[in-house]
Amino acid sequence: MKGLLLAGGHGTRLRPLTYTGNKHMLPIANKPMILYGLEYLKNAGIKEVGIILGPIKEGVVETLGDGSSFGLKITYIDQPDPKGLAHAVQISEDFIKEEPFVMYLGDNLLRQGVVDFVKRFEINKLNCVVGVCPVSEPSHFGIAELDDKGRIMKLVEKPKEPKSNLALIGVYVFDSTIFDAARKIKPSWRNELEITDAIQMLVYEGKKVEVEHVSSWWKDTGKPEDLLEANQLILGDMQTSIQGSLSNETKLTGSLQIGAGSETIGEVNIRGPATIGSNCIIGPDVYIGPYTAIGDNCKIKNAEIENSIVMKECNIESGQRITDSLIGNYSVVSNGYGRLPRGYKLILGERSFAQL
Ligand code: DAU
Repeated sequence: MKGLLLAGGHGTRLRPLTYTGNKHMLPIANKPMILYGLEYLKNAGIKEVGIILGPIKEGVVETLGDGSSFGLKITYIDQPDPKGLAHAVQISEDFIKEEPFVMYLGDNLLRQGVVDFVKRFEINKLNCVVGVCPVSEPSHFGIAELDDKGRIMKLVEKPKEPKSNLALIGVYVFDSTIFDAARKIKPSWRNELEITDAIQMLVYEGKKVEVEHVSSWWKDTGKPEDLLEANQLILGDMQTSIQGSLSNETKLTGSLQIGAGSETIGEVNIRGPATIGSNCIIGPDVYIGPYTAIGDNCKIKNAEIENSIVMKECNIESGQRITDSLIGNYSVVSNGYGRLPRGYKLILGERSFAQL
């Protein structure tokens, strides 16, 4: 069994964070999102993974290389023009060859990983397994309509009037029949070759397609608020691990991970779950609230931060509480108190968001 991890596309909904890098490299609980999917594939016994890369590649190849440091063999598959998930499958045929494969959308997090999907595929000798999970806004997803025995009747991509609330979650197991099906479909209303339509073609042709219901949480990280929610879900499972040093005046409740070379200075109040990377200087006069992730090499003093993702090498001295925020690499947030003329001083790139 091979793996196909999709990390292409434009990442438009996560701008401005994705202007300068691939969205799958954005950190969730201080780990690039793409590594979660890669680990799920590895834990299912997969050794060879193809990674689809689109126009924005920054960071992916540098971090993952040939995969050997992760115990995997990685092949990069170029998709300069992201024409849809079924298009990604089409261009991967040379890499996959005749083998069955798990296709994993790299912007999804799934607590249980992919082992159950692979087991169902193998035990029931199927052509395809799709993961499904109930959602409150089904028109934003591919949707599976099932009969009363749980068999697939129909799959529809982002229906205007959904007849089911079961979303396709972005985990699929295929055998090579999918390549023929992907060749037969036409572009959708959004001008993409939809994998949902290709799987519908398998169903139409009488191939053996089953659903696997998600047994724990699943999160699609399409929008900025989804990143914060994914961060909460991952941090919620985290165990304490202190590699850095905490000052005597540091008050800690809840779980905390703090990396090597990091230190807290003077009065610091940390309410976990929270994670702080390596070589950070935190304090004095800092409050770090639940569900906060601080990247490597950050300096934070005289500031309060809660439910936020602060990426690497940021300098924060805000004087006030920052909450529900995403702060990109190398950002500076400072307090201009006492400096004239008074007012908020902002240097915001295109499509930034500030709430004052
Ligand atoms: O998140 C689950 C949903 O993912 C499913 O319910 C839908 O059926 C499925 O079509 C997909 O919908 P999205 O609109 O969320 O797909 P998105 O365009 O965000 O792309 C999903 C991932 O695939 C993302 O990591 C980028 C990557 N991608 C996307 C396209 C269109 C590629 O690598 N190549 C592409 O051509």
